[in-house]
Amino acid sequence: MDPTRVHITTYGCQMNRLDADLVAEVLRASGAEVVAAPPQANVLLFLTCSVRGHAEDRVFSNIGALGGRKRRRPGLVIGLLGCMAQQFGEEIRRRAPLVDIVCAPGRLAELPDLIARARAGAEATALDPRRRQAGAEAFAALDEALDGVEVRRLLGRPSAREAYVTVMRGCDNFCTYCVVPNVRGPERSRPPHSVLEEVRRLVGQGARRITFLGQAVNQYAAEEDGRRWDLADLVAGAAETPDLARLSFITSHPRAMTERLAAVFRDVPKVVPYLHMPAQSGSDAVLARMNRGYTAGEYEQRVARVRTLRPGIAIESDFIVGFPGETAEDFEATVDLARRVRFAGAFVFKYSPRPGTPAAERYRDDVPAAEKRRRHSRLLALVKEIAREQRSVPSHL
Ligand code: SAH
Ligand code: SF4
Ligand code: F3S
Repeated sequence: MDPTRVHITTYGCQMNRLDADLVAEVLRASGAEVVAAPPQANVLLFLTCSVRGHAEDRVFSNIGALGGRKRRRPGLVIGLLGCMAQQFGEEIRRRAPLVDIVCAPGRLAELPDLIARARAGAEATALDPRRRQAGAEAFAALDEALDGVEVRRLLGRPSAREAYVTVMRGCDNFCTYCVVPNVRGPERSRPPHSVLEEVRRLVGQGARRITFLGQAVNQYAAEEDGRRWDLADLVAGAAETPDLARLSFITSHPRAMTERLAAVFRDVPKVVPYLHMPAQSGSDAVLARMNRGYTAGEYEQRVARVRTLRPGIAIESDFIVGFPGETAEDFEATVDLARRVRFAGAFVFKYSPRPGTPAAERYRDDVPAAEKRRRHSRLLALVKEIAREQRSVPSHL
């Protein structure tokens, strides 16, 4: 049989980019080659995202387009990995019949075995335990396998000097629109010693800027040798690494923006003056239906506190427009919030109902598509304009 030559296509968030590095590392360690162009590969892997319907549609159409190639090269193996694998489960094989391997985010360490099985023509499926029946313990062994992988060559790294480190996996916030708690499992924080060792290793390999990753990274909470750690402790610990120049963390949940954490912006000079803290909406009624756990007023207070501690800090947000029941007034409240806070940048998304989420089960997707588009372009134009104005302000002011 030909040697295994793998190509990886990655969709979705930074966590997936980091997972792509991990997959590449696991596969290289097993003797496979990771190639840069799909035609050189005999195994095509898609690391997928389920956060919006649009992300899934792209994957289905890209995999669907491989029918001709697969007929010409019968040995070609196609793998669908990551969040969509977990979201659809076995059903994915009906939706994407060309797929040979199905592998959930927590099972990526098993890929060499899954590829060997698929190349031998056998069944190759690895799904995570279903989140609501299995607790964090069920994921612990899987996490350990992932933490043990030393990623050397980092595909998803923006540059040789920058690196990402996962500090927590999963999410327990259950924002009602969001698929992540279903596909990434319960929230679990990595042991501090394991994170700090990884930081030292990466800095030893030349990284100068480290970004901590977590879906709600500021909810990091761990206990080790009788000591409790929150994100502020972890940041302070990592900042002691000599030769590390810059440190940041994404994404922060407004509910968990504590005074202790806000203080790192003042007290730890290596922390970059940048905070990604999604507001999602400026309407209290919508925020409540989203289960976000704060009001627009509380959000603004947290922003104000951080700005007092680190004047000039760049604050970015995500917004969802057209959430079920979002009225014209609700949307205006979001526009007002964006005007008042003056974000350095923001991502704006049209609400996309996700099967299995509380919002999809509870609320009707009642904002017409044309109205979602209108709100999307209006808010996007505003945040872009504000961001542009801020960039034109000299930094010494
Ligand atoms: N954990 C991060 C981000 C998760 S997904 C956080 O809590 O902020 C990234 C962004 O996608 C979210 O912030 C949200 O704005 C958007 N998003 C998530 N689910 C969505 C959905 N069903 N429809 C539209 N946008 C969604
Ligand atoms: Fe999704 Fe909310 Fe968790 Fe972010 S905090 S991943 S939006 S459930
Ligand atoms: Fe998408 Fe999964 Fe990330 S759903 S946003 S790739 S955690």
